[in-house]
Amino acid sequence: MTNEQVIQQFQDYVISNYTRYPVCLERGEESTVWDIDGNRYLDFFPGWGCGLIGHCPPKVVEAVQKQIAELIHVPNTWYMKLQGQLAEALSKRTNFNGRCFFCNSGTEANEAAIKLARLWGKSQSTTSSSSSNSTNSNRYKIITMLNSFHGRTMGALSATGQPKYHRGVEPLLPGFQYAPFGDAEAIEKLIDKETVAVMLEPIQGEGGINLPPQGYIEIVREICDRHHLLMICDEVQTGMGRTGKWYSHQHWSVQPDIVTLAKALAGGVAAGGLIAKPEIAEKLKPGTHAATFGGNPIACSAALATIETIEEEGLLKRATEIGEHFHQRLLKMKEKSPIIQEIRILGAMIGVQLIADGAPIVQEAMKHGLLINCTHQTVLRLLPSLRIKSSDIDQGCDILEKILPKYQ
Ligand SMILES: Cc1ncc(COP(=O)(O)O)c(C=O)c1O
Repeated sequence: MTNEQVIQQFQDYVISNYTRYPVCLERGEESTVWDIDGNRYLDFFPGWGCGLIGHCPPKVVEAVQKQIAELIHVPNTWYMKLQGQLAEALSKRTNFNGRCFFCNSGTEANEAAIKLARLWGKSQSTTSSSSSNSTNSNRYKIITMLNSFHGRTMGALSATGQPKYHRGVEPLLPGFQYAPFGDAEAIEKLIDKETVAVMLEPIQGEGGINLPPQGYIEIVREICDRHHLLMICDEVQTGMGRTGKWYSHQHWSVQPDIVTLAKALAGGVAAGGLIAKPEIAEKLKPGTHAATFGGNPIACSAALATIETIEEEGLLKRATEIGEHFHQRLLKMKEKSPIIQEIRILGAMIGVQLIADGAPIVQEAMKHGLLINCTHQTVLRLLPSLRIKSSDIDQGCDILEKILPKYQ
């Protein structure tokens, strides 16, 4: 089949709820992908953030191939070795001794976190804490951030602080209030006796790679402690080493109560999950929550192989080096490209704030064989593989350097 034939088939049979580029990707290796017509692209945005260790990482491929021939699915009515091993591996990489729940995507991970927070809130009526709202058993409100992105199912969508995603599907799930990201006072003003949690991406991804102001994450933790609220970190995009730490909140030495993960968790295989402190996790009792495919053997084998690859190849350190390499190249580009307003980077999470629409740049980069992303209309977003070669970074940056000065 050709690109054109595949596109025609989509037009006839697939619901067009995505804006797609007119290219059908067929094969990938590390930071390179090929389309069905044989065209080659360097990929600075592999798998929409899921390709943390590149396309078809060898250990993940091997682990999945082995597992799929052994046992494809184990329902959660049985124990399964790999799920336990993955939970231990994820927990040990936090600074708290967490317990895990597994699902299949970021939105599901956040749904689970929302339910867990509410279950925990309802169970708190008998606590003896002096905090004013700790004795209220009807605590369900969650404060999230403007510009956040937590997913597309109704709970996670309601948590998402962007009205454009709400339009047409209201009413939303009640109980979400939004504070500007970076404004701790605004959070405090929204707290009342029904508030149960604060939920945030430590670095906003879809919202434009927005880094928190200095001290903000620590203050959010302190506010949560003072008001007896849970701090939920959505690490769906920032987790698994993307920023140079296993979980991005570790840059600020705080301990969240719940961490949600997905995207890169299983090296590109669909997987999601949460890690919660034990005294909170225990509120998810049998019957309260479930996911048929959650923690399945294929996803768990892929996730364990992902962790092994990150560790064996020293990719946390490499994430920081990648960020520095991009930073140097982008700073040079900024001198010659008036369209660049600001560069925001933590590890291999890279945002280039433009003063104009970034979509035409994404299109032109693609014509030159480079795949990048634009989010929030004016932010070029790069989430390269942690296994990307320095020569590939330079090759892609050469393309951007050529293109960007043409845009104002
Ligand atoms: C921070 C964050 N949370 C949640 C999600 C939703 O994840 P999924 O698309 O796997 O449901 C995303 C997706 O981009 C995300 O970036």
